[in-house]
Amino acid sequence: MLLFGGQSAEHDVSRATAVAVARALDPAKYDIVPVGITTDGRWLLAGKAQKMLAEGRDALPAAFAVEGDLVPVPSASRTSEVDVVIPLLHGPYGEDGTVQGVLELAGLPYVGAGVLGSAVAMDKIAMKRMFVGAGLDTARALTLRDGQDVDEFVRRVQAELTFPCFVKPANMGSSIGVSKARTRSELRDAIAHAFTYDEWILAEEMVPGREIEVGILGDDPAVASLPGEVVPAADFYDYADKYEDGKAELRAPAPLSAEQTAKVQQLAVRAFEACRGEAMARVDFFLRDDGVFVVNELNTIPGFTPISMYPRLWDVSGVPYAELLDRLIDLAIARAQRRAGRRGRQR
Ligand SMILES: Nc1ncnc2c1ncn2[C@@H]1O[C@H](COP(=O)(O)OP(=O)(O)O)[C@@H](O)[C@H]1O
Ligand SMILES: [Mg+2]
Repeated sequence: MLLFGGQSAEHDVSRATAVAVARALDPAKYDIVPVGITTDGRWLLAGKAQKMLAEGRDALPAAFAVEGDLVPVPSASRTSEVDVVIPLLHGPYGEDGTVQGVLELAGLPYVGAGVLGSAVAMDKIAMKRMFVGAGLDTARALTLRDGQDVDEFVRRVQAELTFPCFVKPANMGSSIGVSKARTRSELRDAIAHAFTYDEWILAEEMVPGREIEVGILGDDPAVASLPGEVVPAADFYDYADKYEDGKAELRAPAPLSAEQTAKVQQLAVRAFEACRGEAMARVDFFLRDDGVFVVNELNTIPGFTPISMYPRLWDVSGVPYAELLDRLIDLAIARAQRRAGRRGRQR
């Protein structure tokens, strides 16, 4: 079952991904059952899901246009016969453990991180604590909850993190709600903006350097791909740069020395394990001018169109798109089988 769409800002990207994934899956091996989630949270089954894909196609950002036919009409449309679910959803209500929890309750094997790993990686404050606990370098940060003293927070940010700094809601993705603040007044605006998305926000020191990303596949053991590099066209890698302008340059693999490559791969595996990653993630770093890799974040459902960084990194690491999907599906089924053997988990 392909679960796509969803209530987040990445709804359209998810639809493009669903088309690309459906076309890459081997029809001799799989019957595809599309299930589309509308922006207001309704789950549409086969026929309507089909229509949702078709209707959304014209609305897709140019960078994600998928050529050719849409998903073939599924030969099986009964959700009771589903063997594995591929959640192609990003952000809240998709990547944050909520959908994973529903799939656990339904007893359906699914691709990617479980409830805990998904929830940890969706909350930038919890994720940072895991990184710090694992002894990884990460940008220094201060956190604030809506209703706490903003004046005091602004003073502390200026004194302890200095300007410029980055302000982010704890629970978003795609750079949504993220701002760079250079002055006290920009910091106040950034705080107010971030609070429109979440009750918890954080301010981070700015880490000047290159943006390096690593794909992880599997969890026993977790294997790291070759690293890639994002070269933002804008002041930072913001939403428009990611999806609208499409001007950011993705380099796969990143121009790094063999030692740097080995170092960042090892750090990516540590970050993945620290956050209880399972099967799939993209781990993002800053490479500081002094040569230190600073972990920024871990995405449990990374962008998955064929031109996205995660599939491209696996492609240059010897795992083409269709095979990557096969491997992820096998991992999902293997996890469900392992779990079924544990006491307290029987159904
Ligand atoms: N501490 C930081 N120092 C420098 N740049 C940052 C920092 N935090 C975020 N950025 C920039 O903002 C972008 C989005 O921030 P990120 O934390 O990755 O949020 P998201 O989860 O929305 O992708 C990053 O890709 C980077 O370009
Ligand atoms: Mg990011």
